[in-house]
Amino acid sequence: MDSKDTRIIIDCDTGIDDALAILYALRAPGVRVEAITTGFGNIGVQQAAENTLRLLALAQPDYDIPVAVGAAQALVREPGIYSPHVHGANGIGGVTLPPSNQQPVSETSAELIVRLADESPGELVLVTLGRLTNLALALELDPELPGKLQKVVVMGGTIYKPGNVTPVAEANIWGDPEAADRVFTAGFELLMVGLDVTLQTLIKGEHIAMLKRLGKAGNLPVIDFMEQTLQHYFRFYREANYVLDGAPLHDPLALMAALQPDLITTRRMKVRVEQQGEFTAGMVVADLRAQPKAGEYIEVAVDVDAERAVGAFLSVFI
Ligand code: BDR
Ligand code: CA
Repeated sequence: MDSKDTRIIIDCDTGIDDALAILYALRAPGVRVEAITTGFGNIGVQQAAENTLRLLALAQPDYDIPVAVGAAQALVREPGIYSPHVHGANGIGGVTLPPSNQQPVSETSAELIVRLADESPGELVLVTLGRLTNLALALELDPELPGKLQKVVVMGGTIYKPGNVTPVAEANIWGDPEAADRVFTAGFELLMVGLDVTLQTLIKGEHIAMLKRLGKAGNLPVIDFMEQTLQHYFRFYREANYVLDGAPLHDPLALMAALQPDLITTRRMKVRVEQQGEFTAGMVVADLRAQPKAGEYIEVAVDVDAERAVGAFLSVFI
């Protein structure tokens, strides 16, 4: 490890775009993935951990990365609600990856986050790509956690764009609004990378064709995997969003923003997460009044240099 490397923990519900984000993190220069903590979301937590282990076996990083199994359900909401229509029944578009020899660690995701933050106070960046349940549980274990992480980058929410599960709620916040509100108001140095910017950052079929032409020989197995798994994702985005031969890089953009903050423009705003509304649960409510009063300040990504972000993503495989 280089002493200048950004040390990250990835907390995810390993579906299709989570998988792309993990592969990006493993190939990007200047990053060390200290752990991957999994939770329910796109699929059940056991499947999320299994997908993660198999993905690591495929990508073969040259150092060990512990994988933890975390929350199986939201803090208070009904269990068992996943997104097979978006990510396929196994979370990775029905692609079968070879099994891994690696086992998950015995600590839960929340326990692992707390221990690693304790061992390296102020040094680690936590990037969350799924529900915020694991982080809310970690906060319960250690209320001092906000002072021990360098920052938290959250893929989730939306301020100016419509939601993707309900008219106003994005999936990662909608899936556990109570956890999201606790995390957003806990005092973390927190950047929210939501649909405002991820919907602008599209990976297209032509990009995959280019990777197949130009990708490093050692990356061809992961490029093949991306091509296969994205077929399912592209189909969903064509049917649901009229995106033709492409899909948003939701989770990879959050990861890239953690490493290269100049890809995005941010605005500081006070937010809360709606937990009661029949039509609005999971909405991130930003107080944009001249004198904001409701909620706590977080940083929100409001614009992105999409072309540069897509280029940054693709280039690590070439
Ligand atoms: C988010 O929800 C999940 O489907 C994706 O993996 C991403 O984290 C996008 O709303
Ligand atoms: Ca995700």
